[in-house]
Amino acid sequence: MNIETEVLNSIESFEDIYSKGYDKKYPSIELVRIASNIKLPKNSNILDFGCGPGSNGMHFLNNFNNVHFADISLNAINLVKSKINNNLKKKSEYTLIDPTISKLPYKSNYFDLIICMSVYNNFVNREHALQNLREFNRIVKKNSYLILDFNLRDKNNYTNITSNKNDVKKTLPNKSTDKQISMYFPKTNKSVENDLRENNFKIIDIGYSHWKVFDSFEHESIITAKKI
Ligand SMILES: C[S@@+](CC[C@H](N)C(=O)[O-])C[C@H]1O[C@@H](n2cnc3c(N)ncnc32)[C@H](O)[C@@H]1O
Repeated sequence: MNIETEVLNSIESFEDIYSKGYDKKYPSIELVRIASNIKLPKNSNILDFGCGPGSNGMHFLNNFNNVHFADISLNAINLVKSKINNNLKKKSEYTLIDPTISKLPYKSNYFDLIICMSVYNNFVNREHALQNLREFNRIVKKNSYLILDFNLRDKNNYTNITSNKNDVKKTLPNKSTDKQISMYFPKTNKSVENDLRENNFKIIDIGYSHWKVFDSFEHESIITAKKI
C-alpha cells in the first residue's frame, strides 16, 4: 500500500479514538524540561505537529503568542479549538493535514520551534518519516528547533501488533475497530540521527525517558535538533 492509503487508515482510527472522548490534559514532562532549556523570543511561531488533544502546544501558549496546531484528525483539531476557545483565549491557528499532499501548507523558514511528540511512530514507514523531515527542514527557520520523540523497534509497549516487517509494524491500536494501521519503528537512535542530519539538522541532545506504572511502561528517545 502507498503512503496515502496507509495514512487514510490512520485517520479513520484516530477519528474514532477522539470521537470516543480520548483526551490528554497535561503536556509531556520531557518536553516541558527541554523547553525550559531553549531560549525562544516571545513572538515565536511554534508548530505542534500531530497535536492530538493539543496539551503540548497549549503548554507553549502560556508563554508564547503564536502556536499552530496541526493534525490529520479533524476531531483532534476540533477538540483543541474547543479547549482553547473555552479557556485560554490566546492566538492560535489550526491546520488539518491533507494526506494526499506530501508538502505541508506552511511558508518556508517560518517556525522557531516544531514539536512532534508521539507522532514519529505514526508515520507509516521510513519514507513517510523522511518526507516529513524534509518538510520540517523547509518550514523551520535556520538555527531554530525541532523536538521529536519515538519508540525503538525492539523497545516499545505496543501489544496489539498483527505483523512485523523490518521497521514497520501493523497494529490494532484502537480496539473498537478492526482497522489496522502501519507504524514506523526505527531500529536505533542512530538511524533517526542520520535521517535528521541528512535533512540539515544538527543534533543538540538525545534524551531518554523510561517509566513503569502498573501495566504501563515507556522507553522513549527524545531528540532536540537545530536546523543548520
Ligand atoms: C499518539 S497521538 C499524540 C498526540 C500528541 N502529540 C500528544 O503527544 O499527546 C498521535 C497524533 O498524531 C496524529 N497523526 C498521525 N499521523 C499523522 C501525520 N501523518 N501527520 C500529522 N498528524 C498525524 C494523529 O492523528 C494523533 O492525533
